[in-house]
Amino acid sequence: PLAPKYHFLPTGIDGASGLPLFEIKAQQIRHDAGLVDPVTGARLTHTAWGYGTALQPALYPGYTFELPKGLAVKVRYSNALNGVTYPADVPLDQTLHWADPQNNGSLPGVPYTGPVPLVAHQHGGDTASLSDGLPDAWATPNNEIKGRLFNPLYQYDNSQEATQLWYHDHAVGATRLNVYMGLAGNYFIRDANELSLNLPKYPYEVPLLIQDRTFLSNGELFYAAQDPETPDLPVPTHLPENFGNTILVNGVAWPVLDVEPRKYRFRVLNGSDSRVYDMTLSNGMAFTQIGSDLGLLNSPVAVQMLSVAPGERCDVILDFARMAGQTIIINNTANAPYPGGDPVDPATTAQVMAFRVSLPLSGVADPKIPANLRPLSGPVPVLKAPVRTRKILLFEGTDTLGRLQTMAGIVDATRPNLNGTLVFDDPITENPKVGDTEVWEFYNTTADAHPIHMHLVDFRILNRQAFTGTITPKTNSDGSEGGVLDERSIKLLGKPRVPPANEQGKKDTAKMFPGEVTRVIAKFNRPGEYLYHCHILSHEDHEMMRPYFVGPIPP
Ligand code: C2O
Ligand code: CU
Repeated sequence: PLAPKYHFLPTGIDGASGLPLFEIKAQQIRHDAGLVDPVTGARLTHTAWGYGTALQPALYPGYTFELPKGLAVKVRYSNALNGVTYPADVPLDQTLHWADPQNNGSLPGVPYTGPVPLVAHQHGGDTASLSDGLPDAWATPNNEIKGRLFNPLYQYDNSQEATQLWYHDHAVGATRLNVYMGLAGNYFIRDANELSLNLPKYPYEVPLLIQDRTFLSNGELFYAAQDPETPDLPVPTHLPENFGNTILVNGVAWPVLDVEPRKYRFRVLNGSDSRVYDMTLSNGMAFTQIGSDLGLLNSPVAVQMLSVAPGERCDVILDFARMAGQTIIINNTANAPYPGGDPVDPATTAQVMAFRVSLPLSGVADPKIPANLRPLSGPVPVLKAPVRTRKILLFEGTDTLGRLQTMAGIVDATRPNLNGTLVFDDPITENPKVGDTEVWEFYNTTADAHPIHMHLVDFRILNRQAFTGTITPKTNSDGSEGGVLDERSIKLLGKPRVPPANEQGKKDTAKMFPGEVTRVIAKFNRPGEYLYHCHILSHEDHEMMRPYFVGPIPP
């Protein structure tokens, strides 16, 4: 989905508001990821779920929203997976807290076998709570059974600066599978500042949506749900992470893109379940990064290794001038889990895609990338004068079945009843006022890095700093085993490190490394319920996700 023909077309006008309307359906499709049967040489396709409209057949990845800043639109998502349930090889573990349609019915405890609940979330959107697509806003086909926050018609204000958002399914406890089946796509907002820069445009601007998958020999998707080391667990069982052995970019396995010897703009999005990509170029060239999650940086930054965790976006320029005839590979050196896990496999996951500089140079101008990327919008705003600082806990415990479980919670000795790890359904603990600026400090006591995502806001990473502290056990409200980080025991070690230049722009997802506190600052500009969570989908589906509320909480 690179060309403008893969942009969503409006399907009409919303009568009540007069705004453009997009009526989008999630449907089951066959998808061709470019896999070939090694024996017969036949092309293998697989069952997937995609987004489309009455005018555009559903695709994986979904069509791209391409909208100018300031044009609000209405979007109606519908779940058109009528009669569709999870494939046998992408099974749902119903022991997790999930969008179980039967919870609204009468058969608790009986495994649900009906159609899949869905909700589409606009990731990175400065969007009203009821249009955000929160995990409890799901519905089954024809909106027959709905979660507590279901809303049939969303409004996207598009009031943000030029950026790459994305949209993906977010149904509670089922996000990882719904995204694995294909429910994700790009969302671009354009503005005058970006236009004034003369950056490469289609066909020289290319989104790269990176997702790892595992396929069966018949070409169908496979999602691991059995742990050979713990045969006592129910099957399917939730695993702490999911890593595929095949890298798809824009839905195609290890694609090769033919390019001209000139500058290209790549909009990189990691839409994987758990895999981080530390990307380098095989010819030693640096990436020129011009933007982060939510907009352009102040000036371009040369980045030798581009590290992109699930949920993050990187806006980069690659200049293939004087490279005619060469093939340049994006390699991946990130082990998994990240950092410090198993090394990537040189035969598979150590490569992402390739560029073949094979096309003749067209007559289209190839302008310079300006040193000031924000001439009209002004530099990335510095957020100042936080009215409070909150401490959030990232913790690795075990669930009621004894499985590894990463969780979030609070570090707050003044709230002994809530202090420590919390589950998704526990009471709200973060309640900024509308317009407040706050610092949130995430204390990562686990062994892995977690890409923590906050809905609604664009935050800035202030710094990262090592720490130690005393942990005591805590039993969570759902019976899982969590912990408490004693606030008074926290010892900060060394100096806080400011983030590298390419992490100093607007962010909504940031890597938080083990043994470190990561401090971010954000302004909460809209009232309502929102969310923060780990964007490792297997973590967010297993309670590493908490609601927060801006403004007065309704009784
Ligand atoms: Cu990209 Cu809460 O999600
Ligand atoms: Cu995580």
